[in-house]
Amino acid sequence: MRTQVGIVGAGPAGLFLSHLLHLEGIESVVLEARTRHHIENRIRAGVLEHGTVELMKNTGVGARLQREGLTHRGVELRFAGRSHRIDFEELTGRSITVYAQQEVVKDLVAARLAGGGQILFEAEATGLDNIDGPHPRIRYRREGPGVTAEDGELVCDFIAGCDGFHGVARAAIPPEALTIFERVYPFAWLGILAQTPPASEELIYANHNRGFALLSMRSPQISRLYLQCEPDEDPAAWPDARIWEELHTRLNLGAGLIEGPVLQKGVTPMRSFVAEPLRFGNLFLAGDAAHIVPPTGAKGLNLAVADVRVLAAGLAEHYRRDRAQAGNGRLDRYSAICLRHAWKVQRFSWWMTSMLHRFPSDNPGDNAFDHRRQLAELDYLSTSRAASQSLAENYVGLDVDMDVSLDV
Ligand code: FAD
Ligand code: DHB
Repeated sequence: MRTQVGIVGAGPAGLFLSHLLHLEGIESVVLEARTRHHIENRIRAGVLEHGTVELMKNTGVGARLQREGLTHRGVELRFAGRSHRIDFEELTGRSITVYAQQEVVKDLVAARLAGGGQILFEAEATGLDNIDGPHPRIRYRREGPGVTAEDGELVCDFIAGCDGFHGVARAAIPPEALTIFERVYPFAWLGILAQTPPASEELIYANHNRGFALLSMRSPQISRLYLQCEPDEDPAAWPDARIWEELHTRLNLGAGLIEGPVLQKGVTPMRSFVAEPLRFGNLFLAGDAAHIVPPTGAKGLNLAVADVRVLAAGLAEHYRRDRAQAGNGRLDRYSAICLRHAWKVQRFSWWMTSMLHRFPSDNPGDNAFDHRRQLAELDYLSTSRAASQSLAENYVGLDVDMDVSLDV
């Protein structure tokens, strides 16, 4: 099989890239290890930045988002028994939209298939060959209840590694060619989906001395709630009664928080991770394959979309130009452009994480100091317009500067 751009992974990064390339008249094939049902039902993030929403609308995949997405003009911070609202609209003129990641995935899959796009489900990439040569290849194995088992090879001009943190693309790059930056946090998030109307119209991020809690939602009937927990927590240690009790304590919403059936429960580890550079030969890394942010601030999905916007623009420019004059175009600056943006998002996600979580330490003095420091930070946010505006402009999303030069 032959294509222009071989894409490993049908998460938001791979699907959005395939969609944007199609609009530019560039052919791609997406290889996805799991079934269509699996990727369309995998519960993950839920907040779309202003720029992600605009991109979906402007590229013809925003109709359902516009009907079903919940526009939010602010978020609430709760700490020390009080609340402070960050008013996005007033501080930035922008808003965010709550729309589940798996709904974005469904919309993109539907658009690609309707446009004649090729997504091979149950096709696991097993290795990449010749990634620094002119015709890189993806070896894959198709296997599963929905397909006839086969081993195949996809020959491409370029490969996009959009296969998440545990994929094969980053692993195909010689380790000496990559620099890894990483921080693992001493806690995780226990997330639940509950059949109960959200206790607040807007998201609530709560700093509590028992640990962080977050109230979010998926619809007027479904709440999405998170609790800081141990890094290696077994979800079985959290029966529903314990979850609700802890949510009541940490969110402190009184009778406003109505308990309901827990539809799904899972633990997400927390890390900050960046692999530099994002390109090796003709292989480009995008999304979680390249970087991970802790979820506080809801950036992972949006960062993946920002990467592939730049990659699609770079590839479009490449195919439009006479190849003889290639060089120094957006494709060559892909890594520099995306890393500059990704590090700002890393900074924001780390900052939100460190302001809102309880950091366990064997030294009680450290705990007390950290907690006072966090309360001072939150107090500052609630009294300084400049501080609130900084949070707001990062939360609604910074624009990627597509024209950044190579030497940043
Ligand atoms: P992914 O969505 O991971 O997609 C990668 C795809 O590649 C997957 O479909 C995978 O099946 C496929 N794949 C992997 N290996 C292969 C292979 N060898 N061959 C073929 N296909 C392969 N962010 C938030 O902001 N808030 C949250 O609450 C939140 N919760 C999360 C919970 C979990 C459990 C996880 C893992 C992530 C969460 N995130 C959250 C982060 C956010 O969901 C990711 O940043 C986002 O999914 C990144 O998109 P992606 O396309 O880069 O990667
Ligand atoms: C959601 C997830 C996040 O990581 C976040 O910061 C806000 C909301 C959510 O799943 O709704």
